[in-house]
Amino acid sequence: MNPFRFHNPTTLYYGRGQIEAHLAEEVTKYGRRVLLVYGGGSIKRFGLYDKVTRILREAGVTWWELPGVEPNPRLTTVRKGIALCRDHDIQLILAVGGGSVLDCAKGIAMGAKFDGDVWDIYLKKAKPTDALPLGTILTLAATGSEMNAGGVITNWETKEKIGASSPYTFPRFSFCDPENTYTVPRDQTVYGACDMLAHCFEHYFHEPAHAPLQDRLIESVIQTIIEYTPKALEHPDDYDARETLMYCSTMALNGMINMGMQGDWACHAIEHEISAFYDIPHGGGLAIVFPNWMDYVLDTDPARFAQLGERVFGIDRNGRPEAQVARETVDRVRAFYRSIGAPQRLADYNIGDEALERMAQQAVRFGPIGHFKKLEAADVLDILRRCL
Ligand code: NZQ
Ligand code: ZN
Repeated sequence: MNPFRFHNPTTLYYGRGQIEAHLAEEVTKYGRRVLLVYGGGSIKRFGLYDKVTRILREAGVTWWELPGVEPNPRLTTVRKGIALCRDHDIQLILAVGGGSVLDCAKGIAMGAKFDGDVWDIYLKKAKPTDALPLGTILTLAATGSEMNAGGVITNWETKEKIGASSPYTFPRFSFCDPENTYTVPRDQTVYGACDMLAHCFEHYFHEPAHAPLQDRLIESVIQTIIEYTPKALEHPDDYDARETLMYCSTMALNGMINMGMQGDWACHAIEHEISAFYDIPHGGGLAIVFPNWMDYVLDTDPARFAQLGERVFGIDRNGRPEAQVARETVDRVRAFYRSIGAPQRLADYNIGDEALERMAQQAVRFGPIGHFKKLEAADVLDILRRCL
């Protein structure tokens, strides 16, 4: 293992009834002037908006609203939120929605306490030194944003989608009630599963490091996602299935299963370019990129792929060479994506090869990507071509 320090200050409230029991108490710890951030209206349609605003009203909280946060949230919306915070002396940001709403709120929280252009933080030209407190109510199991400090924002003018993280952007509290995910549509449930699975894969393909417990923890999360995604797809209001997926998504990216090791993360960098240019759902892009990345890096360490295949997919080695078992593992990953109806190719989103070179260059803007296998622009371009 690498030496590490672990810190995660988010208070999690999981399960039914927690919002009614604890939201007012959590919010009023930070003040009574709140910015309520949400997306395109799903929370109004399934009743969560009414519930939350009733609780705020009864607690004597005054709130301002930033509705309309886009999937793949935009810098322009972050800027709107920062202006609202400044104009109204906001004390707490309350984000109610999926990863996009939470990430937008993180950008606002940093930007409101930053004396320059918030985009410079994403471009790594500046470091935040503070942020407004943020609380979240999660409605979609996918990103893990409810218990991590990261957030990804798109600058649509420059076609850039970049993540930023700081010690100040961990949510102070997050409410995760699986019932709030019953209405997540089938395609978004699939994308969410692909995203949490991808977070596990990013950890699993780590730099050479002895991390046997981490490997087994990650394998368990992968197995659980594979077992429970079809259940949630078949019965969207299966509490146990939604709860299990929600917990998987939190665990996949809150730092708990990957302590002391550096995951790969090239696929995320590549996918962020695809959604920066074409505004496609992150999980859909990952389902296309990951198997093609696996093909490309398979020879780097076939034993790692074979281990995944044997332990997670129950592949019988049967005396076969490692490379063959590794190959079969990637086939099984593809087959799982196919079985849940995830996209397979960029063509599924009508994406051609017109911007691949620019995307490949941009993916390595801060240097080569990937820790399991280092990739330069030419490698990224090769992988993107395989995705067509
Ligand atoms: O906008 P509304 O109307 O709320 O509809 C949303 C949106 O259209 C809908 N939705 C959410 N909850 C729902 C619901 N519809 C019905 N019922 C519900 N309960 O689902 C759509 C997608 O929502 P979005 O928030 O975009 O999805 P997700 O949670 O997958 O977030 C994706 C974003 O997170 C970033 C991605 O790049 C992407 O921008 N990521 C954030 C990470 C992080 N902060 O740690 C890590 C990830 O790797 C990822 O990059
Ligand atoms: Zn992701």
